Amino acid sequence: MVDTEHLAIVQLDARDAPGGLKLSTEAHWNQNQDDWHFFLTRGTVFGVRDRRENLLATAALLPYTETDAWIGMVLVTEEYRRHGLATRLVDTCLNTAIRLGLTTWLDATPAGAKVYGPLGFTPTIQLRRLRLAAAPASGAAPLPAGKLDEFLTCDISALGFDRRALIEELSARPSSRLVSNGDAMALVRDGRTARHIGPLFADTPAHAIAMVHDIAASENGPVLIDAVAAQSAFIDGLTASGWAVERPFHRMRFGRATKPAGELPFAVAGPEFG
Ligand SMILES: CC(C)(COP(=O)(O)OP(=O)(O)OC[C@H]1O[C@@H](n2cnc3c(N)ncnc32)[C@H](O)[C@@H]1OP(=O)(O)O)[C@@H](O)C(=O)NCCC(=O)NCCS
Repeated sequence: MVDTEHLAIVQLDARDAPGGLKLSTEAHWNQNQDDWHFFLTRGTVFGVRDRRENLLATAALLPYTETDAWIGMVLVTEEYRRHGLATRLVDTCLNTAIRLGLTTWLDATPAGAKVYGPLGFTPTIQLRRLRLAAAPASGAAPLPAGKLDEFLTCDISALGFDRRALIEELSARPSSRLVSNGDAMALVRDGRTARHIGPLFADTPAHAIAMVHDIAASENGPVLIDAVAAQSAFIDGLTASGWAVERPFHRMRFGRATKPAGELPFAVAGPEFG
């Protein structure tokens, strides 16, 4: 039986990226060291360590604007679960957000939703993580580069707030691609075990599906996408072409929506970023 009551919550910094990565890898998540670096340098990350300084649990608050923030990287190492550590850590993030007057959002796994509901988070939209086990690697030419300004306009309109610092950082990574074919636009980036597509914006489900096929044709290996569940024609089109639904996520919010979100995207940036 582990004893957690004496374990203090501390604020983490960039030196904790390897410890954070160990926790997300244990949970089989796709985040890589760059993702942890972003949270640890741009957000406020809380953690709990054991006496040997090993990181046991984390939760990150990432303020996007003066009104809205995202919570991500809520992780507890298996042996220390069900002792209230996630509840304490998320509560600490929430207190920080409340002090700053921020509405807080997150994309919850089913296990996470059990922690966030009692804290006062309410569900909004649903998401579905889909995986293509092996992209066809047909050697197709990469899609043309998209324009960052146009992409940001769609992202701001879809979310209701401006998280350009995130989109700029993700799209500037050497292995990332911001692609557009006139009918659809998407960001493709590296993950720890799979490439990730999203956000993805398009006029119609058919254009969104065509964009995903074109991206997959120029990729090797596994690819993930976090689709908005309400985009059912899009999800049906992907599952009909070899993509498998892996798990659901619930988007949840604490506090009032500061500005109504616009048209739903087809896929989001990932549960850790929204
Ligand atoms: C989801 C996760 C973060 C929860 O962490 P946790 O520290 O176990 O969460 P908590 O202990 O605060 O709460 C979880 C459960 O423990 C119970 N609990 C809290 N304190 C307890 C205690 N002292 N003794 C026994 N149970 C306790 C809670 O009531 C809750 O119970 P429930 O599952 O029956 O609803 C953890 O399971 C995890 O890392 N999972 C993998 C990654 C993941 O899904 N993260 C969430 C992303 S959104």
